[in-house]
Amino acid sequence: MRVGIFNSAEEASKEGAKIIVEFFSRKPASTLGLATGSTPLMLYAELRKAYANGDFSLHNSLAFALDEYVGMDSDHPQLYRNVLKEELVGDDKTGLSDANLRTPNISHPDPDVAAINYEAAIQAAGGVDLQILGIGADGHIGFNEPGGSLSSLTHHEVLASQTLEDNARFFDKDSDQVPRTCITQGLKTIMNAKNLLLLAFGESKREAVTQLIEGPVSAKWPSTVLQHHPSVIVLVDEASAGDLELSELYRTRWQMLKHID
Ligand code: F6R
Repeated sequence: MRVGIFNSAEEASKEGAKIIVEFFSRKPASTLGLATGSTPLMLYAELRKAYANGDFSLHNSLAFALDEYVGMDSDHPQLYRNVLKEELVGDDKTGLSDANLRTPNISHPDPDVAAINYEAAIQAAGGVDLQILGIGADGHIGFNEPGGSLSSLTHHEVLASQTLEDNARFFDKDSDQVPRTCITQGLKTIMNAKNLLLLAFGESKREAVTQLIEGPVSAKWPSTVLQHHPSVIVLVDEASAGDLELSELYRTRWQMLKHID
């Protein structure tokens, strides 16, 4: 795991975009994994700028979302497919086509089958080359909430009450409006991606970040499974990194070594 600690979320997002742009310049037409939520928004803005400057393009790429809410109308602005379309799809954004943006099919009558189909689609595409991740305050990645299997594949999941409260801000501050279930890539699905880029910002993520990087691997903090992945970059701001015991070592490693192949 490579940990980059930055003064602000903005600096960390710029670094994240730089890493993605460089990765795609070396490996064009790679498959990108997409997170939603507020954390990657500055990163996506940077990718749009890079596209406008001619330095980056998703024209020839597939992109797979990490997760999707179940039970929402297809035109709801908070449906993750719609959020990602707004951020990345089109020749005025990053060149990603609507057809190449893949999200779980929540119009399928059986979410378990939709989850199996989504897992199969990721595998059929040859897997994800670079997966962008955020992290929940309770340590979830994708929507893999605490206490689930560390080797899960894409599945139908319930949102923990902490997540319902945290995500109420996208639903008129009313947690009752947040969908109760979702389809999420499983922890094993995420572990199968070749490279992972996780961003975390702010005080509210401090415990999750400490557990992710320095905690014991446990189902209680699902993101800790990433300690077993060979290629993970974690970009954090000072506020979320405040309780890391070994931050000096991480800073030195960040300065002296290459982060991604
Ligand atoms: C969303 C996702 C979640 C979020 C997490 C943090 O696709 O996979 O794991 O990354 O809930 O959300 P924000 O960024 O809104 O704090």
